[in-house]
Amino acid sequence: MLATEQLVEEHNVIERLLGVLEATATKLDRGGDLPPEVLERELDIVRNFADRCHHGKEEGRLFPAMEQHGIPKQGGPIGVMLAEHDKGREYVRQMGEAAAGYASGDKRAGRSFAAAARGYAQLLSQHIYKENNILYPMANKVLSQDEQQRLMQQFEQIETEEIGEGKHHEYLHEVERLEKQVGTA
Ligand SMILES: [Fe+2]
Ligand SMILES: [Fe+2]
Repeated sequence: MLATEQLVEEHNVIERLLGVLEATATKLDRGGDLPPEVLERELDIVRNFADRCHHGKEEGRLFPAMEQHGIPKQGGPIGVMLAEHDKGREYVRQMGEAAAGYASGDKRAGRSFAAAARGYAQLLSQHIYKENNILYPMANKVLSQDEQQRLMQQFEQIETEEIGEGKHHEYLHEVERLEKQVGTA
């Protein structure tokens, strides 16, 4: 398997998570009763699986490997991807603040969470589309088999360091549990 194929598989998990976030937003906007722990569990996957682990692999390893082949960081597709990761982090910060308010009984915070979660889902879904269809194919063109192999090893190391061994797979199950509990968009 190519390193970029592993990232596409992670995108599939993240897209399911985005469906859960949109279903959560719909429920919260309708004033539906969702236990605060559901928002916390969603945030845990967003922060650790999507951002620290997946975006960590791209920012720390894939993009630098592409830069070594002359694909510029500034002013090109890599720069756009990095800016979108940062934009995503701002939505995550807003979601975190709203989830804390919601847990302390502030009903309006549910709507703030919904707005930030929707913004995040829209941003990430077009981001994933661009990576799958433009950026990763570009990487596959310039990276050798050896480099893809080395990236795979480095990805494994990132998983262990950032979220702990075996946890990566556990997140998929957690997304499945949330789909059952909250539904999908
Ligand atoms: Fe990305
Ligand atoms: Fe990605």
